[in-house]
Amino acid sequence: MPIPQEFIEELKSRTDIADVISSYVNLKKSGRNLMGLCPFHNEKSPSFSVSPENGFFHCFGCHAGGDVITFIRRIENLDYVEAVKFLAQRAGMTVPEEGKDNGMGRLRMRIFEANREAARFYHKQLYTPQGKKALEYLRSRGLTEKTIIHFGLGYSPSDRFELVNHLRSKGFTAAEMIQANLANESKKGNPYDRFSDRVMFPILDLRGNVIAFGGRIMSDIKPKYLNTSDTPAFNKSRSLFALQFAKNKANGQLILVEGYMDVIALHQAGIENAVATLGTALTQEQAILLKRYCDEIVICYDSDNAGQNAAARAISILRPTGLKIKVIAVPNGKDPDEFIRSNGDKGAAKFRMLIEDSGSDIEYRMKKLRDRYNIEVTEQRIDYVDEVCRIIAAIDSAVERDVYISQLAGETGVEKSAVKSQVDDYLHARRRDSKKQQQRTVRNEMSAKNDKINAEKFYNLRAAHAEEAIIALVINNPDAAADVFRRLQPEHFVTAFNRRVYEVLRKRAEAGNDISLADISGAFTADEMSEITSMLVARPREQDIHRAVEEYIAALEQERSRLSPEQMAQAGDAAIKEYLEKKRKQSKNRRN
Ligand code: GTP
Ligand code: MN
Repeated sequence: MPIPQEFIEELKSRTDIADVISSYVNLKKSGRNLMGLCPFHNEKSPSFSVSPENGFFHCFGCHAGGDVITFIRRIENLDYVEAVKFLAQRAGMTVPEEGKDNGMGRLRMRIFEANREAARFYHKQLYTPQGKKALEYLRSRGLTEKTIIHFGLGYSPSDRFELVNHLRSKGFTAAEMIQANLANESKKGNPYDRFSDRVMFPILDLRGNVIAFGGRIMSDIKPKYLNTSDTPAFNKSRSLFALQFAKNKANGQLILVEGYMDVIALHQAGIENAVATLGTALTQEQAILLKRYCDEIVICYDSDNAGQNAAARAISILRPTGLKIKVIAVPNGKDPDEFIRSNGDKGAAKFRMLIEDSGSDIEYRMKKLRDRYNIEVTEQRIDYVDEVCRIIAAIDSAVERDVYISQLAGETGVEKSAVKSQVDDYLHARRRDSKKQQQRTVRNEMSAKNDKINAEKFYNLRAAHAEEAIIALVINNPDAAADVFRRLQPEHFVTAFNRRVYEVLRKRAEAGNDISLADISGAFTADEMSEITSMLVARPREQDIHRAVEEYIAALEQERSRLSPEQMAQAGDAAIKEYLEKKRKQSKNRRN
């Protein structure tokens, strides 16, 4: 590990996990722990717990968990070293030995630098003879000089080597350009510019790093837009265009549109709380990200079929976050950019009126259905009421449900009580389903079928449980640990992942170091840390530690003796894999 142990110790002592997590999650006291809504998955009732005493967090819903460093890694999408730096900065400390960064962190930094240099280069091109047409194109789309600078727009020359040559002159290697997805690799292995003859839109993260680009062609050539593919520094399903600006202007509300140009047109008109996805459908991660900065989302997608389908999908992704949702229909088949521009000076005011007049997502869906049915015809009216009742039944708030039940009754002339009883039927069915779903999750959990980190667990449940109990025991009882480490060798472990965890703990203890979660955090990925944290959660404190150790060791021995002698002799991963394969085949044959 490049960061000295003493530094981590000091950082830990100066960092309060509850304090750190509170800036992301609204935590409420619950016994010795704190509880809140999990920031890593969508949920409506809190299953995310923080234990200040043990220094870890754990979600009973999605099983994310770990120490404070793991939390920062996950929520800020950082690697271990970067997360330590993040927390250090917060604690007013400087991480020693800056230069000795880990590889991935260093690569990301280089990609950010290359991207920044590329953005500067593209922007300058607008003011050269070859870039003039791009500048004119942007002006013809109504953008002012100020807007072009604010968004750092640019032009990528058609010659396929200009950016590559420029970056090379600034000291970037071919590998870095390719990793940044600024260049492609030719058959001969040489880099050439990825973007050619396009208007360039830089995409920034919340800290101002240039993480990617979108490039629009100025003719009819396909694809219309070319975007940066995912890189070590860019994950398009976690990023939103212009969120770095919009989050400061949100005031509780963000507007979600489809395109870069829509965002830019709105911002230029003074509506600066608009963001866009990066040419893909809205993801759950983006929905959670949005929720960090607002309570209400106004969806304003194109009025064509594709746009309306995308809006319906976005609604279903956003609903579970508990965000209030409104949907705007832009009149006359225009997109927001066209709407703003076609209304001249009044563009912004008129768009604000559209927001004012926009209905909730439920009303939007009712209206969409309404277009498909002729409610003058009795049969169709019944179908319509039935469909809307389904939608209403999915609403969590009883008050909100009642509003729409009244509305639907009024609209169709059906008795309110009849509508209500129909909704109630769907509501009960839904509750039954979700209960079943919960039971299924619990069962899966028990059979460890979902365990991706320790895939062997499913076939070695008893051994894995003993191993996990031992791991929890040595972490929770430093005094008993020395005895366990002396008696139990890593080779005694059956599952490879648990063996690795045990080995890391044992090595640290032998070197005289602490073995809390935070101490081993650097040796594991964020997902692995969640797995390890799960081992510590909901485990009763052992009454008689000595006896518990005996029992676990005995259980492990028994389980190991189920392996064949040759396998025992090797006792490596390969042997266990082979054994598992055999077992799998056996159970398959039995089923046939
Ligand atoms: P303009 O035509 O310049 O006004 O762009 P637009 O934003 O109105 O385009 P459109 O509604 O067609 O697309 C919305 C968004 O989808 C764009 O901003 C892009 O992010 C993305 N997109 C559009 N076309 C393509 C494409 O060909 N490839 C990819 N990857 N993304 C695209
Ligand atoms: Mn457009």
